[in-house]
Amino acid sequence: MQTIQLDLPGAHLRHDVRNEAGGRPQVQAVPNPVTTDTQVRARQLTKRFGDNTILDQLDLDIRPGEFVALLGRSGSGKTTLLRALAGLDRITSGTLDVPQARAAVFQEPRLMPWKRAWRNVTLGLNIDQPRERANQALGEVGLAHRENAWPATLSGGEAQRVALARALVREPKLLLLDEPFAALDALTRIRMHQLILALWREHRPSVLLVTHDVDEAVLLADRVLVLEKGRIVSDIAITQPRPRSAERPEFQRVRAQLLQLLGVEIEAAPEPVAPVSTPVHTPFNFSNFSI
Ligand SMILES: Nc1ncnc2c1ncn2[C@@H]1O[C@H](COP(=O)(O)OP(=O)(O)OP(=O)(O)O)[C@@H](O)[C@H]1O
Ligand SMILES: [Mg+2]
Repeated sequence: MQTIQLDLPGAHLRHDVRNEAGGRPQVQAVPNPVTTDTQVRARQLTKRFGDNTILDQLDLDIRPGEFVALLGRSGSGKTTLLRALAGLDRITSGTLDVPQARAAVFQEPRLMPWKRAWRNVTLGLNIDQPRERANQALGEVGLAHRENAWPATLSGGEAQRVALARALVREPKLLLLDEPFAALDALTRIRMHQLILALWREHRPSVLLVTHDVDEAVLLADRVLVLEKGRIVSDIAITQPRPRSAERPEFQRVRAQLLQLLGVEIEAAPEPVAPVSTPVHTPFNFSNFSI
């Protein structure tokens, strides 16, 4: 996992790169824009690797506290966008406003093997009472009892929860998640979904979740975006109340719509023989609906 934190929580950073050819990028701290209700604002964001344009004048807004999922084919630029938002890579041109308090969690937990769990949580942070803060964050992800564990002794799900605690302790206004559940088994993944939703409700960061899993996106997000040819080509609001069930007709409609946008052919689902019961967090076969 790579986590970043900057010093002035509450402030926003503006990356403004106008002159791609010769200009130096301008990065400045700006006050939280009180006149707008956006936590993230990208305008004409372009990222090239050599001659390869990955993000092409992309526009994106994320509101405070909004949970946004990002889908797209492999190689479409999802990680590139997330890394730009995290400040890990420079943009080639465009304007990007992001909160300074950001944290990112990736597919692998990337814990330091020679540091105990709690020390991994506060790694790189200069804060008072680091141990207490780490233990509080570990408690939030259900791992208070593993504070002294070495990373090698943690299960995949536990290690990813430590990575999540490492993000949480930074009190991010923007939480960037790049396929954080992809390496986990289906049951652990369901538990992680519930955990992420609980933490999101408690702390209310804006979330950008990159995933290949259409069901995961519809299950969790307020809005699902599709990235294609360097731009956001679809922006679908998910208005169904939570908890959501993959068996509900409205869920299936959105899933079918997204799969079609992603170019995945699926057979029509059979008509339900009986009314669908009260929504629960229904386990479903994730492998069917990944892209
Ligand atoms: N540092 C880099 N240098 C050169 N090309 C890169 C670099 N990082 C990414 N790319 C290229 O940019 C494109 C988008 O990569 P990216 O990792 O953002 O895709 P992705 O949508 O996250 O894919 P996946 O779903 O497989 O994770 C790919 O063609 C990739 O090879
Ligand atoms: Mg990726």
